[in-house]
Amino acid sequence: MSVQRRPLIAGNWKMNGLRETAIPLVGELATKMNTAAPTSFDMLVCPPATMIDAVVDVAYETDLAVGGQDCHMAESGAHTGDISAQMLKDLGCSYVIVGHSERRTDHGEMDDVVRAKAEAAQAAGLIAVVCVGETEAERDKGITIDVVAAQIAGSVPPDSNAGNVVVAYEPVWAIGTGRTPTSDEIQDVHAMMRGKILELLGADEAASIHLLYGGSVKPSNAVELMGLADVDGALVGGASLSHDDFWAIAEACS
Ligand code: 13P
Repeated sequence: MSVQRRPLIAGNWKMNGLRETAIPLVGELATKMNTAAPTSFDMLVCPPATMIDAVVDVAYETDLAVGGQDCHMAESGAHTGDISAQMLKDLGCSYVIVGHSERRTDHGEMDDVVRAKAEAAQAAGLIAVVCVGETEAERDKGITIDVVAAQIAGSVPPDSNAGNVVVAYEPVWAIGTGRTPTSDEIQDVHAMMRGKILELLGADEAASIHLLYGGSVKPSNAVELMGLADVDGALVGGASLSHDDFWAIAEACS
């Protein structure tokens, strides 16, 4: 973690959360944020689209940020079932996740689509959380660095800066499995990512853009993972559905 980059702890609720559970969950986090203010970290929750409006209402007047889990690349139009970045902004979101491996796998989204979505997010005034990460087969072949470098080159828009992009490294095989790379492996990938950003966007962006780690982050491993030099926070799935666990992960950044 660096002094220059204030840690960001982001919760990706995925397709979880009905009013009965989602509102108390965000209510607890909002109370904790208010009680702990000023915190030494930023906190973001990304509920399913159906819950964004209600979650924004609860998070109102707290430092808790709200984001979407995906957006369409177009501003509006004939795209049944899709949601535009402008719509997320209109609801009160400040971030949107794009290119999550579950979108890449379930919906066949390739780097060019992810980049177009990130550009749409930036154009709407949102911060795009661009996800990258290798599959287990790619890791076994020893091509993690090449895969992640290519995803960054293909998915991160050329006009990105610390104010409109965050990059999240999520090894696909570590998501929801309880397995993580070693700390050295995570740091090596993050250092390479920062180098790649330097090459693509320049030194100022490389020094200031947040790089999150995601994949089986829990209270028990958060202190070690959040202490790595080029890890500026976490993108948390399962553990973000428990306010106690999510808060404990955030406190690991203090
Ligand atoms: P888990 O924390 O459940 O492994 O999920 C990580 C993730 O996919 C966050 O986007």
